[in-house]
Amino acid sequence: MSTKGSRDYRPRIHFTPPSMWTNDPNGMVYVNGIYHLFYQHYPKAPNWGPMCWGHAVSRDLIHWEHKPIALYPDELGVIFSGSCAYDRENTSGYGTKECPPIVAVYTNHGRHGLEQQSIAYSTDGVHFEKSYQNPVIPNPGISDFRDPKVFYNPVRKCWGLVLAAKDRVYFYASENLKEWEKTGEFGPKGNQASGIWECPDLFQVEAEDGKRLWVLIVSMTTTTEDGRCRTQYFIGDFDGDRFILQQEEDRPLWIDFGFDNYAGVTFQNLDEPLFMGWAMNWGYANETPTGEYCGQMTLARRLRVVKTDHGYRLAAGFAGNGLTGVSGRPADGQQWIYTDTFGMKVSGTKKITLANALGQKLVIQVTEDEIFVDRTIAGEREFHEQYQMPEYSSVRVPRYRRDGEMELIFDVSVLEILADDGLIPITMAVYPEAPYDRVLLEGSGDVQIFEIQS
Ligand code: FRU
Repeated sequence: MSTKGSRDYRPRIHFTPPSMWTNDPNGMVYVNGIYHLFYQHYPKAPNWGPMCWGHAVSRDLIHWEHKPIALYPDELGVIFSGSCAYDRENTSGYGTKECPPIVAVYTNHGRHGLEQQSIAYSTDGVHFEKSYQNPVIPNPGISDFRDPKVFYNPVRKCWGLVLAAKDRVYFYASENLKEWEKTGEFGPKGNQASGIWECPDLFQVEAEDGKRLWVLIVSMTTTTEDGRCRTQYFIGDFDGDRFILQQEEDRPLWIDFGFDNYAGVTFQNLDEPLFMGWAMNWGYANETPTGEYCGQMTLARRLRVVKTDHGYRLAAGFAGNGLTGVSGRPADGQQWIYTDTFGMKVSGTKKITLANALGQKLVIQVTEDEIFVDRTIAGEREFHEQYQMPEYSSVRVPRYRRDGEMELIFDVSVLEILADDGLIPITMAVYPEAPYDRVLLEGSGDVQIFEIQS
């Protein structure tokens, strides 16, 4: 169990549980102006344990209201990750046309690790009733068989589902969210990194050049590339049965280049993909010095597809109300900062050092060729061996666009960078033992600093 760190590291505008543990975001769905976020939650300790689904709601993706725990473990097992569908036409029959249900599809992780998919429904958006027909997708003899994500299948005009099955994903179709027929698979062919596949998602997006594409997301534990857990994506098409890779790559495409963005997926029932991930890393997640809570989500990000010299790539933008389009004050040299939740907009090349009175420093550097982020001396790091390793201390990412702009948001203990117009997201958790209260700006670019009211 973690001991209390030297200060309160709880971020202000990133989602954290009321207390105790969270990992993956689950069941994200938009219903009548309200964003629902469910999350992997162990309510009895600030570390991973028998999983429940915690629940919170928001109208602006920044302020979250906590709701009662939505799903508790049952005789089929604990409640692992999954998704929700807003069943507008009441295809499941669990509600009425006037009062459509939200249907949750999740993994029961049972005795001896048996994983199967189950459903539960709610007509008030708070209380969930599990189906007596569970499991609705029994285990076909695979040890890792989890994290169902529901989406609308516009080809067959029915519900679609993608889930992770060891080293690949399976696709299913259903008319009523209860009876599922397997329609296809993707992987391991086409994959560029090994590791158990987790938390898939499939969504359609229109690229900036008007081409309609499908994006498949897969989170991967301890990838061969560098041993880190990371989220990969693939670009292609969906024929109603399976995903077809259209863009062959010679290396994996990552959703984020930092150390702390895993298990992210998109909200259901929106026209454009809106993504949130767990802003943590399994390597050290259980030991962070955050005291009575443990784990947080990334900010919500709108995803778009951009055509680059290397092919189509995902790009992200901050989505929460009040975070976009803000103008700040131009800054250079040494500046004092009086809040530990703030943002910056940066153009050109620049070295940015966030520092505190203890001499702890977080360095972000934009050069002509790369984005460099270094948390080696950013704050506390003794809490876990892995966190201290050079492989988990700094990243260098080659740039896509020399004239690209960078936005960053720092929130107490989480840094999110969207560099090169969102083509290079970098998320990092840091634990400065005193707030960063000064920023040193060197180089030739322009910087604006803006405060974020929480
Ligand atoms: C991903 C994951 C999922 C699983 C959940 C358990 O971080 O391992 O595959 O459903 O966490 O908490």
